[in-house]
Formats: sequence, C-alpha cells, structure tokens
Amino acid sequence: MFSFDQINRFQSRRTPFYYYDVELLKSTLSILSTLQKKKNVKIHYAIKANANMPILGKISEYGLGADCVSGNEIQQALSSGFNPSDIVFAGVGKSDEELELGLVHNISCFNVESVHELIIINEIGERHGKVVPVAFRINPDYDAGTHKNITTGTRYDKFGIPESDIPELPGLVKNMKNICFKGLHFHIGSQITNMSVFRELAVRINDIQSFFTSHGLHPSIINVGGGLGVNYAQPENEMVPDFSTYINTYLNVLKRQPDQEIHFELGRSVVAHCGSLITRVLFLKRTGDLTFAVIDAGMNDLMRPALYQATHKVQSLSGIGKEKVYAIVGPICESSDVFGKDILLPQLERGDLLAIRTTGAYGESMSSGYNLRKSAQAVYSSKMHVGKIHPQVANKIL
Ligand code: LLP
Repeated sequence: MFSFDQINRFQSRRTPFYYYDVELLKSTLSILSTLQKKKNVKIHYAIKANANMPILGKISEYGLGADCVSGNEIQQALSSGFNPSDIVFAGVGKSDEELELGLVHNISCFNVESVHELIIINEIGERHGKVVPVAFRINPDYDAGTHKNITTGTRYDKFGIPESDIPELPGLVKNMKNICFKGLHFHIGSQITNMSVFRELAVRINDIQSFFTSHGLHPSIINVGGGLGVNYAQPENEMVPDFSTYINTYLNVLKRQPDQEIHFELGRSVVAHCGSLITRVLFLKRTGDLTFAVIDAGMNDLMRPALYQATHKVQSLSGIGKEKVYAIVGPICESSDVFGKDILLPQLERGDLLAIRTTGAYGESMSSGYNLRKSAQAVYSSKMHVGKIHPQVANKIL
C-alpha cells in the first residue's frame, strides 16, 4: 500500500493528514462503472462518506450519480461536475431553502421521508410552478443487525415513512398536482457484510412494491440505498469490495417491472479503502499493564472509534523492531479518544509514522475542530482535475 518513496515524502509533512490513493479509487470506480452498464442499473455515490472535490470530480467522471443529504452537498456535487439529472436528495429534515435549491436546479429525485414532508414539497412545488419528482423512502421495519448507531430501517429509527402510513400514500399522491411519483427508496443501515440482509430486504421490497402497483402507483425506480460494508480488520484482503455479488444479490431477488431502474447508493464501499490517516507518535508512557502511544491524530480527525467503537487497522510506517502491544490514543481531552487498546506494532519511538487505514469514508467528512484543532489536510497520490466548474481548485499531491 505504501512505497518506500511515499513514506519518505510523508516524513517531511505536517501530521496528521489524510492520504488518498488515487489509483485505488480509479480501479474501484472502473469496476463500478462497468457494473453500471448492466441494464437499468444506476449507482449514486453517497457524498456524505467523503465530499472532497477532487474525489467527487473523479466519481462524476466515471459516470456515477450523487446522493446528497443537504443543500451544501447538492452545491458541492454541482460544482464537482455532476449533472443535476444525476443528483438525488434524501434526509429526514430538509429545510425549505434546501428543497428550493434542489427544485431550482432540477435535480432528478427527492426522497421523501414523511407524509408531512410530502405535503410541504407539494406546496413548495406549487409556489415555484413545478411538478416535483419524488420517491418514497419507506422504513421497512427490518433490523440490518449492524451497529445500533448506523441502523436505519427499524420502526425505532427516525428514517423513512413508517409502514403504517403506506396505505394513505396512493390516495394522497393522486390528489397532489405538484408531485410526480417516481419510485420507492430504502436504506436500512451501513457496514453490512452479510448478503442475506440485502436478500431479505429485496423480498420485503417486492411485497411493498406490489402494494403500490395494486393501488395504481407504478414505481419506475427502486432505490435500495447503500450499506455494503468493507473489511476494516484486513483491508489488504479485499481492497475493492465485491460489488458484483452485492448488486447481483438484489437483481436476483427483486421482481423488476419492464424498464424499471434499480438504483444503488454506495458511500463507504467506494472510498473507504483509498484513504488513510497518517499520524505521528508524540509520546510513549506506561501505566499499569498498558503502554500508551499518544499520537497527533485525535477523535476530531476520525470520530468512528469513539462513536461506533469502530476498529481501523493501524500500520507502522517506521518501525521494524520486535512487536509490542500498545494502546493508541489521541491528544483530545476525552477518554473516548482511543483508536485501540491492544494493537500489536513493532516497537514504537517518538516521531514514528503510523497509518490508520480504511479511513477514506466517514473520516474527513465527519471531522471537527474540537479543542480548536486544525483540520487534517487532504493529500492525493496523484494529480486530479476538479469538476467542470472549479478546475482551479488546487489539490495537494504527495
Ligand atoms: N443512502 C442513504 C439514505 C444513507 O443514509 C446512507 C448512509 C447511504 C446511502 C450510504 O451508506 P453506505 O454505503 O456508506 O453504507 N458515519 C457512519 C455511517 C453512516 C451512514 C449514514 N447513511 C460510519 O462511519 O460508519
């Protein structure tokens, strides 16, 4: 993953920083764009995973669409080269301003998460003299069995239209002059590696779809959301996730109507492996049974361990000595600022470089300025042009 040369160049940089392997991103995208050539399959990249413009520019170049959850994400997608017709907009709490932004730009679909939202969108459409393309995001009350903080499809989650509201939807939509029904949307959670979860969701989708068709609403799009997990423990075993098995799992089970499009919204699996957080050891200390290695990256740079008890592989880019067990912790004034308590690494010294792997998704995009810390910069393994509109945006290369 890291050449001797690269590591040498890392030495002279201020740490921590996010390093993105552009070649890996391109090979991942090339597989996705081939799969997207299957009949009526469309992949929208979930921008929330990583919204860096050079990365978005590359993703749009490979023909994927963009799944956005805020007005700023829509703006960023447009600035990075995505066509409005390739942009969808989801989220439980879209503001009027954000809805209007999507409308003004004629994005392709608004994924509606409640009956109340549908009523408001119809009103806003009327005010703007537009018919708004919508998909209903249905909450299928299905537990994807993933971490509780990234499960979205049970009745206890805030996402989607509850099943109990489904019966009123066909009647409502028929009376709304400014709504055009496009399809059904689902997303039951993230970091899912068990394909039977997707298979079972597809079975539920078939039942839900038949309710709508039997009431005269024919979805031209079935959007199954995202959720495909990645191998955090052993990233080198599967640097490009098995997209083909994932997509075929759905295609084999879904009862597709003629010319119906199947949409996927992948985030993590597209960008996770191409990013690493590069950090340096500041101090070493022993307390009781633990040897702490205090590093200069903290939970403000990478929140996943503190928020989801996530483990990311930590790799030494310096040490070659005898291995020892370390508790790797950051500098933030929070006890949860811990990257792992039993990490086996070649003996560490002050100044050693470490790579926290598989941090391309939900790493930089969820970072914060807590403790008034500077943001970790993004650097790329090779030059990337950025979108149609801002070719001048400089990107750092290493
Ligand atoms: N579609 C919708 C409607 C979503 O809410 C999400 C993610 C995706 C697609 C993309 O899911 P993915 O393919 O990335 O699993 N911060 C958490 C993950 C939160 C995911 C939120 N929604 C983490 O770091 O694990």
